[in-house]
Amino acid sequence: MNFLKEKGMSLENQVKTWYDIVKRPYSRDFANNYTRTRQILMNGIETEAWGFKHCWVRKLDDTELKKLLVNIRRIEDMQQTTVNWLSPVNQTVLDTTLGYEQVAVDLTAWLAQNEDDPYVRETFNFGLLEDFDHLYRYSQFANLIEETDPNTILHNQTDVVIGRPTQYHHNCNGLRIRNPYDKNSATPKTKVNILTLISGEQQTHNYYAEHGFMYGNSDLKRLYAEICDVEEEHVTMYETLVDTNETPFEKWLVHEFTEACCYHNCYKDEVDERMKMIWEELFQMELGHLHEAAKMYEKYEHKDPTEVIGEEEVYPCHFESQKEYVKEILNKEVNKRVDKDGKYNTVDKLDEDWRSYKVQETLNKNGAPSEKAIHLSIEAIGRDIAIADEDLLKKQGDLLDKSLEKYQAPNTITKEEYKKFNKIDNKIYLY
Ligand SMILES: [Fe+2]
Ligand SMILES: [Fe+2]
Ligand SMILES: [Fe+2]
Ligand SMILES: [Fe+2]
Repeated sequence: MNFLKEKGMSLENQVKTWYDIVKRPYSRDFANNYTRTRQILMNGIETEAWGFKHCWVRKLDDTELKKLLVNIRRIEDMQQTTVNWLSPVNQTVLDTTLGYEQVAVDLTAWLAQNEDDPYVRETFNFGLLEDFDHLYRYSQFANLIEETDPNTILHNQTDVVIGRPTQYHHNCNGLRIRNPYDKNSATPKTKVNILTLISGEQQTHNYYAEHGFMYGNSDLKRLYAEICDVEEEHVTMYETLVDTNETPFEKWLVHEFTEACCYHNCYKDEVDERMKMIWEELFQMELGHLHEAAKMYEKYEHKDPTEVIGEEEVYPCHFESQKEYVKEILNKEVNKRVDKDGKYNTVDKLDEDWRSYKVQETLNKNGAPSEKAIHLSIEAIGRDIAIADEDLLKKQGDLLDKSLEKYQAPNTITKEEYKKFNKIDNKIYLY
């Protein structure tokens, strides 16, 4: 479908009543897990659409254009309220957190497999294994604090085992930066894929920053603080992939195009009829925004918008189980790091004085909260909460071994500990 040729909803029809803006939530217990991941991602997409327009307007002295952007960003804000408040009230912060990390794992895996630029794909795979580990760490607390079987949220679609251990995700600032694509040769798909992930990671960061304090448990708070810092790094990593020479008009086009593609994707994949209608309406609204962005691009830059967004839709928001792909990347790349030149390398090839060691030594001096999560599970149930096929469960010790760095937090769980876990049936603690 060429979105520029579709009619969409005109801006005059987009301001709704409060009754339209606030809709009935989906059900925590009966909704499809990928209905929840769509809702989580689209909330992030709307927040980014709103924030981008604020940043731009602050530097703009063209009154006509300012009025248009102010109008559309108000609608983005109302859309964000609609989407975010589809969250059910009985879905706890930890439940939602598991949903956020399921988004990160399954979406990043999808995008990596659909990305043509090898460097961008490699960066996606790098981030994938970190969010995969976050899911494992948070799952310990979901069980400890709320007696939640992670599968009540994940529905068996995503594995819960060790990834690249979270204590190693904290890098020296210079190593958080990636190399940008060239806007003239990058495909619309690459631009949309990256913006989708930036939005998702930014939302995840914001959610942890805003909710990590909501449990009266210092270990869990520290885990939220630790992972919040990693999500900050993920935003940095993905946003530095974007060509800094893109003009605000080009960026605007990519933003509206990404929103439209994502909603259309949600609409096509959705299994819940009521949610499907919501996605469809939001899609029609985004077509309206896209037409405005395209008109302004033609007016101010005198160029054809299809040079930026192409003539076909892309699929940045498809969710399905990615267990096999994640397993493959886990086995191949768990020991990957960014070396002193900003290139991907393996742990064993890092210099003695690799810059991130210093950062990790400082942060983890009194122990890593992400390791403490496993210690607490051992105290409670004798082992970690881990959900995967037997083969992968038994591999946890080896995956850890492959990923160990020179400096380790003083409370690092050992490979031997993981070997012991294998002797305890994990199923008795799950529903
Ligand atoms: Fe929007
Ligand atoms: Fe994460
Ligand atoms: Fe992340
Ligand atoms: Fe929009």
